Amino acid sequence: MLVDIIAGARPNFIKIAPIIEAINAAGKAGVNIQFRLVHTGQHYDKKMSGDFFEQLGIPEPHHNLEAGSGTQAEQTGKIMIGYERLLLEKPCDLCVVVGDVTSTMACSIAAKKVNNIKVAHVEGGIRSGDWTMPEEINRIVTDAITDYFFTTSEVANNNLRKSGVKEEQIYFVGNTMIDTLYKQMPRFSQPALWSEYGLTSGGYIIMTLHRPANVDDKDKLKELITEIVTNSRGLPVIFPVHPRTAKILQTIGVNADNLHVIDPLGYLEFNYLVKNAKAVITDSGGITEEATVMAVPCMTLRDSTERPETCTVGTNELLGTDPKSIQPAFERLFAGQWKEGAIPALWDGKTADRIVSSITRIFGLN
Ligand code: UD1
Ligand code: UDP
Repeated sequence: MLVDIIAGARPNFIKIAPIIEAINAAGKAGVNIQFRLVHTGQHYDKKMSGDFFEQLGIPEPHHNLEAGSGTQAEQTGKIMIGYERLLLEKPCDLCVVVGDVTSTMACSIAAKKVNNIKVAHVEGGIRSGDWTMPEEINRIVTDAITDYFFTTSEVANNNLRKSGVKEEQIYFVGNTMIDTLYKQMPRFSQPALWSEYGLTSGGYIIMTLHRPANVDDKDKLKELITEIVTNSRGLPVIFPVHPRTAKILQTIGVNADNLHVIDPLGYLEFNYLVKNAKAVITDSGGITEEATVMAVPCMTLRDSTERPETCTVGTNELLGTDPKSIQPAFERLFAGQWKEGAIPALWDGKTADRIVSSITRIFGLN
């Protein structure tokens, strides 16, 4: 059986690594399963793509669709055309998509329309309810045509049930991003900037921002960063900048002695910094999950989340996007009043094994 694994953007690479490993292990154990890795090319900079393949030991993609950047429709179109061409040359038996990026949606549509290829969605069923986010549209469209849902939470299961998905299509397996986190934790690596900026454990803040709602308006971005650096009581704020944000940041010139703007970090260096931080400030989805598992206080600059368990169970809190919400949150952090949090069910490092065992059963491979 040939399984296509689709990956296009940074968080996808972290989610596919353990699935590939589990497929390889099943193959070695005699299960008739092989994978074909398709990189859509949505992210292409070494620091957004290649470095993750190297650090996480992901094999070279069999195909790169080289879609590159563009508007939502341009990107979707390029990915669909590229993937359809590949499927027409050689179809697969199952298309596995992960997460909620444009590549996820585009490849699931192409697979479904070429001979009704079965689609499995890893991280299916999550919803923010915010239709202004392209990711929410990607989730809804992908889930509308998915055959098998591999889910991260009971909330996701319920979202799917409410939308009419049959119980036997839902596989509650946990979180592959957390498989990678546990596996790589012993290899987390102190970046050179640790000594350069005199960082100490619990003595700095790490921040990432890349959502259009926070970064595409330069005045908004400037206000958010200014609030953060002025309320962090002089602690260094380390800001690895996503390329979308970098383009805007260079036009606004925010400077502060405690603000350190740097390139995107490798996975091992970034998570070393998260694990040892006083707190994380972010608008990322994946980072809220990692902070939850590492029990690090996490402030999310968004009005909604598709990962409510990071707030109800974990260390994450939604501050919204109003810069005024930052000061009171910092006060609680410095007063030692941040919640402790726990780890959501099945986020135990064994999710990819459950996915591949389920695929093996569904397709009668053993
Ligand atoms: C995408 C995902 C988002 C995810 C994020 C992870 C969608 C709709 N959005 O957002 O859900 O959280 O990835 O990081 O799929 N760019 C580069 N080099 C690269 C990649 C991007 O310079 O390697 C720049 C380009 O100017 C591009 C911009 O970043 O136009 C945005 O990239 P894009 O892939 O469209 O969306 P992201 O903001 O990265
Ligand atoms: N990440 C990284 N280096 C960075 C920033 C993030 O390795 O400089 C990792 C992070 O640990 C997580 C993933 O990238 O595993 C999250 O990706 P991103 O925030 O781009 O996307 P989202 O999860 O919001 O879709």
